[in-house]
Amino acid sequence: MGAPQKPRRRPPVPAPDVPMELTRPVFFVGFMGAGKTSVARRLARTCRVASVDMDTYIERREGKKVKEIFAEAGEEGFRAVETDVLRELAAKPDPLLVSCGGGVVVTPANHEVFSEAGFVVYLEVTADEAAGRISDTSTRPLFQNLEAARARCAERLPLYEAVADATVSTAGKSVPAIAREVQRILEKEGILCPQQR
Ligand code: S3P
Repeated sequence: MGAPQKPRRRPPVPAPDVPMELTRPVFFVGFMGAGKTSVARRLARTCRVASVDMDTYIERREGKKVKEIFAEAGEEGFRAVETDVLRELAAKPDPLLVSCGGGVVVTPANHEVFSEAGFVVYLEVTADEAAGRISDTSTRPLFQNLEAARARCAERLPLYEAVADATVSTAGKSVPAIAREVQRILEKEGILCPQQR
């Protein structure tokens, strides 16, 4: 047996030289398990900008878990709340990094919100990779078995591609690496820049 392992600590996130700001809201889309929430959160920490997770926002606003909304109001009821929240977040005076639920692309009205207000980053993942990343499928009413998830993922692929302003593959990459890639894209596009005020 080797030397006892030290407990692993999360490495500190380097602070940006200057505070950054977003010129437009940035929406992360992609299938369940793509890492939208983790990547948005990581980028928010490294660049010191605000991020919000749509499902968490919905749960706070409605006072219910996503799976309860699905059980009580069905997918249609959930989608109506989702569109309402998307519009609300897109209209915030200070633009945010928004991690969207995987199904945000199935509602045509949401595509208008994306194209009018924001920049969409599509994080690519296959259903098989996603299954390996999702530890608890009980919180995801639409990821109950792999066969159905594969079909749903394939069905949504053209929708993700249609709304994407930038596409980032996530296969075999860590969250910090994906966040750095997204950061470079946003800087190049002039969406993430040094704070003016
Ligand atoms: C959904 C994805 C979930 C959540 C809801 C429906 C979907 O979000 O919004 O369960 O239709 O793909 P995540 O992508 O964050 O898991």
